[in-house]
Amino acid sequence: MSSSLVLPTSTERATVYAALEPQLHALLNEGPDAIAAMANAAAALHTAFGWHWVGFYRVVGDHLVLGPFQGPVACTRIAHGKGVCGTAWASGQVQVVPDVDQFPGHIACSSLSRSEVVIPLHDQQGCIAAVLDVDSAVLNDFTPRDAEALQRLMRPLQQWL
Ligand code: SME
Repeated sequence: MSSSLVLPTSTERATVYAALEPQLHALLNEGPDAIAAMANAAAALHTAFGWHWVGFYRVVGDHLVLGPFQGPVACTRIAHGKGVCGTAWASGQVQVVPDVDQFPGHIACSSLSRSEVVIPLHDQQGCIAAVLDVDSAVLNDFTPRDAEALQRLMRPLQQWL
């Protein structure tokens, strides 16, 4: 597998997702474990879309703990049900937040984050083992289509969780 991504010149998001999918899936299938796969996934998404922060929080006991990411330094631990990430974990639901200032309890790791999407990631037993957190400096930057595309991109990660 080549270690560099080939990305389209188009910045149309659906086009970039489609170009990224086979390349990211190949990287994620390489393994050999969750941290390696998360590290490459964070780097690939950050490179392809230029979002402010892209990373993972892993379930460790009763908290989410910071995992591989790209972007500014971030909070290390998030309690169950707290913030957008903790809400995604507690509810099992994807969170698409158009304006973080309107989300009660949003954890502002960076004052530049304006909108975000969080995807719960399940292990092979169906339990949530981690979340993907994508933060944008642009208000209203995500729709449910982004959430669907990101879920699809993350699919091979499940085998390592
Ligand atoms: N925004 C998140 C906290 C994590 S940082 O944004 C990286 C939240 O409210 O869950």
